Amino acid sequence: MSTNFQKSSQVEIDFLTDLLGAENVLFDESSLQKYGHDETEDFVFSPEIVAKPNTVDQVSKILTYCNTNNIPVTPQGARTGLSGGALPLYGGIALSMERFNNIIEIDQENGQVTVEPGVITQVLQEAVAAVNLFYPPDPASKGSCFIGGNLAENSGGPKAVKYGVTNEYVLNLEVVLANGEVIWTGANVLKNATGYNLTQLIVGSEGTLGIITKAVLKLIPMPAANMLMLIPFTSAEKACAAVAAIFQAGITPSGLEFMERDALTWTAAFIGDDSISIPDNVQAHLLVEVDGNHEEVLMQDCEKIMHIVENYGALEVLFADNQAQKDKLWNLRRKVGEAVKSQSIYKEEDTVVPRYQLPKLLNGVKAVGRKYGFHSVCYGHAGDGNLHINIIKGDLSEEVWVNQLPIAIREIFELTVSLGGTISGEHGIGYVQKEFMDIPFSNTELGLMKAIKNVFDPKGILNPGKILA
Ligand code: LAC
Ligand code: ZN
Repeated sequence: MSTNFQKSSQVEIDFLTDLLGAENVLFDESSLQKYGHDETEDFVFSPEIVAKPNTVDQVSKILTYCNTNNIPVTPQGARTGLSGGALPLYGGIALSMERFNNIIEIDQENGQVTVEPGVITQVLQEAVAAVNLFYPPDPASKGSCFIGGNLAENSGGPKAVKYGVTNEYVLNLEVVLANGEVIWTGANVLKNATGYNLTQLIVGSEGTLGIITKAVLKLIPMPAANMLMLIPFTSAEKACAAVAAIFQAGITPSGLEFMERDALTWTAAFIGDDSISIPDNVQAHLLVEVDGNHEEVLMQDCEKIMHIVENYGALEVLFADNQAQKDKLWNLRRKVGEAVKSQSIYKEEDTVVPRYQLPKLLNGVKAVGRKYGFHSVCYGHAGDGNLHINIIKGDLSEEVWVNQLPIAIREIFELTVSLGGTISGEHGIGYVQKEFMDIPFSNTELGLMKAIKNVFDPKGILNPGKILA
């Protein structure tokens, strides 16, 4: 696939301005800078033009034009991604989907919602909660990220442990193909054994196969109650080991998050919350939520969990006894990424292993850190075996950061795969992990992916430079 793209010029600006109106075509320096980054490290790859369509017909016309003229198109949502999926690596057009922000229909009878990709995840969740329906996938950035980005990266979040990640809620997608044709991938049904599953192929494809312009999502009944506990441990390894034991006791929490000491203390300092005291001997916490329709069952589950974690050296459990305290604890958890970012440039890895292997993964990460001299802050969705490893740049030299770190990360990923895991659980491969795709996949497997890309996008104009090296 060639990356010999045509540069945009006044001709493209005129074409887009005629189609979208001048206010929806940006090419001033500060806009190009703004749309040149997401939340991944400190990368900036400015597009040549930012286009903001709001109809499927406009997206179709833009893609037809770019496909004919060999102009790269990088679809963008809220640009909150952590794998560089929205970075316009080759310039070209940043196709911002921010004006696709309508919830088209909440179908209460069938428990479905039809939504445009630029709707903020939390806005969708609140709209369906108002009619007692539940859309569970809830990335940490749910207050700002878009459904379209969640679909593109197959996002997860804390609820995934019980309710599954984004792809489990997708029934049908309207997609504009690279040549401008518009398709629907499936049907608005809960079962579908009709041919190859184009819907699931598009989910997680990071804007490399087509542009999603509508999604039909599954909703479930809203559980009536939940309970939340913060459990301190004197050993991070034992906190991880307690995770599998909770499931083995027959409980599926609706959230089971792990935070190393620094994750919690840095975040508490970042948001200015000094209400949680963390004794010196505490090395990690589990944040455990259970939900359901019967409070007495949830209470029994909590008691069972408290009993289990005692065997792993847990200290005194903090039980959130009102909504404000629950909100505070979840806010602390959700802000960890931002808190780490505020301290230092960092590399964020998104490893995932079968959950029983989590202690081995954590120990291995720390051993690699000692070998290469880096500090890491680990946290994540322990119930899913999904560990976010934040490697802190701190005062590491540029030489170590640029030359040694990729070798260290390779060691971490090799360990992850040797434990039966893989290199991204929910952030995607995007730009920053593509050089490591040879670790989880053979040449044959990568060849199949390249062939699929070629069928959908033979000229390689859609989000070039992502997923596949
Ligand atoms: C989180 C994001 C980084 O779990 O995935 O906070
Ligand atoms: Zn996460």
